[in-house]
Amino acid sequence: MSRSFDLYCVMGNPVAHSRSPAIHARFAELTGQNLRYERRLIALDGFADGVRAFAAEGGRGCNVTVPFKFEAPALAAECSPRAQLAGAANTLVFRPDGSIYADNTDGLGLVADITRNAGVALQGARVLLVGAGGAAAGVLGPLLQAGASHITVTNRTLAKAEALVQSHSGLALLQKTELLALTPQALDADFDVIVNATASSLAGAEVPVPASVLCPGCLAYDMMYGPAAQGFLNWARAHGAVPRDGLGMLVEQAAEAFLVWRGVRPPSAQVLQEMQQALESK
Ligand code: ATR
Repeated sequence: MSRSFDLYCVMGNPVAHSRSPAIHARFAELTGQNLRYERRLIALDGFADGVRAFAAEGGRGCNVTVPFKFEAPALAAECSPRAQLAGAANTLVFRPDGSIYADNTDGLGLVADITRNAGVALQGARVLLVGAGGAAAGVLGPLLQAGASHITVTNRTLAKAEALVQSHSGLALLQKTELLALTPQALDADFDVIVNATASSLAGAEVPVPASVLCPGCLAYDMMYGPAAQGFLNWARAHGAVPRDGLGMLVEQAAEAFLVWRGVRPPSAQVLQEMQQALESK
């Protein structure tokens, strides 16, 4: 089908809450790219069919969100090394020959937000990654590549943290990063950067790590944003840490996806600032 713009979308379930259409529309406007970006609600057992249907419709690529990120690499003829390492993809490119390329920009988005937008160095930092599910798997590789000196992965189910550490041990060795898996009860040090990759606030649960992991002025980052991040951020603020939610990560992962699709880097810091201002004025 030929149309005057290139079509992209985000596929998920649920997907109504996604801010990606607004972010990509603004990127397109600011870079003069002629594209449209929509939301597609996909049946829980219908991801592969949804991708095929969107490609048949003339779609050029899509973002993939909960719960389909782990299914996405299986549809691809080629995966980027970072998608392979994460075992998950959030960005698909539909190539002209009909094949699919899968990438994962979540971790790059997190690292860009921490280092560029928050101005916190990861090089040489001691990092605590809380959680060992899909969200954590997507960011551990880029955190290692950002040059942290030490990363501990902690999770209430230790075996999952151990598996994540095991699958990243080669990269850790290459980066000369000390990489450990510990239960939350075994944590006995503080960290420069704490990243919450669990949905504990969303579940209304207690923060899953002791306050002793925080030191004054450390960065406490929740990969969620909005109400879902508030429990963790309030806890961090109350203990002298600098809280930050995942809105910047969302914008930066979108910027990396936009770059993959269009070959153009959008002004992500400007768009993040606009979104923060719009939320503050509500
Ligand atoms: P996601 O793709 O969002 O990471 P997931 O793969 O289901 O979702 O992983 C959820 C993560 O949050 C896991 O690390 C989970 O811990 P378990 O592996 O022990 O299940 C963690 N998590 C969820 N709810 C939690 C809670 N109330 N307290 C502590 N950890 C929680």
